[in-house]
Amino acid sequence: MKLILLGPPGAGKGTQAKRLEERFGIVQISTGDMLRAEVAAGSPVGKEAKAVMEAGQLVSDDILVRMLASRLQQPDAAKGFILDGFPRTVPQAEALDRMLAEKHLKLDAVVELKVDDAALTDRIAGRYTCSKCGTGYHDQFKQPVKAGQCDACGSTEFTRRADDNRETVAARLEAYHRQTAPIIPHYAAAGILKSVDGMADIDEVARQLDAVLATV
Ligand code: AP5
Ligand code: MG
Ligand code: ZN
Repeated sequence: MKLILLGPPGAGKGTQAKRLEERFGIVQISTGDMLRAEVAAGSPVGKEAKAVMEAGQLVSDDILVRMLASRLQQPDAAKGFILDGFPRTVPQAEALDRMLAEKHLKLDAVVELKVDDAALTDRIAGRYTCSKCGTGYHDQFKQPVKAGQCDACGSTEFTRRADDNRETVAARLEAYHRQTAPIIPHYAAAGILKSVDGMADIDEVARQLDAVLATV
């Protein structure tokens, strides 16, 4: 199964990608996570990306296309993958088409998570993750079973993303509508675009995704 999960910041791409990873035994490829790892490592790419990400802008196509191409070469991507956060511009979508064509691969589906902008700021402002294992939580919508302790690994340390504040979210949303939404017609024309209601609760979105994917 080779999928793209598409949607604005806070739509639930990461949340659903993690579930699909387990369900289908395929890897989540999150370019946002990859970039945050570069920033944390202080690599040249990380140094270039840090300020751009904190401003809620998109990192250059050049960097992202190279990053994704090398990620797709890794053996764990051979069985299939869920792209989360890529492509985000028309040139990235075109570059992905070329990469897949070279490998004689085809996308099974591009699933758009449809959401209202107004709900996203609250989702993002309440988000945090386990510092040790990366499991995602939310102040209101997804709390650990035992307060202050990660369900998955028991750690008591959590982090919040540097770009998860209200001002940056506004810039990220603007970037989505201006630069990313234009890729939707590209996939509609290819006949592989599906959509689910991203406003439903997390389990219901997961059910809708399963239903949509059962048809591909
Ligand atoms: P990236 O990390 O991809 O961030 P994003 O697209 O802004 O998306 P988010 O991760 O914020 O949201 P999500 O859809 O994953 O939502 P989540 O599941 O966490 O990118 C960050 C930055 O990196 C970009 O701004 C850019 O600078 C750069 N970048 C990355 N890729 C790039 C590219 N290809 N080109 C150029 N630049 C790139 O859910 C959010 C919260 O809501 C969670 O707390 C969750 O628990 C909760 N939640 C989820 N679903 C529901 C639900 N159904 N109901 C209630 N709560 C829910
Ligand atoms: Mg995410
Ligand atoms: Zn954990």
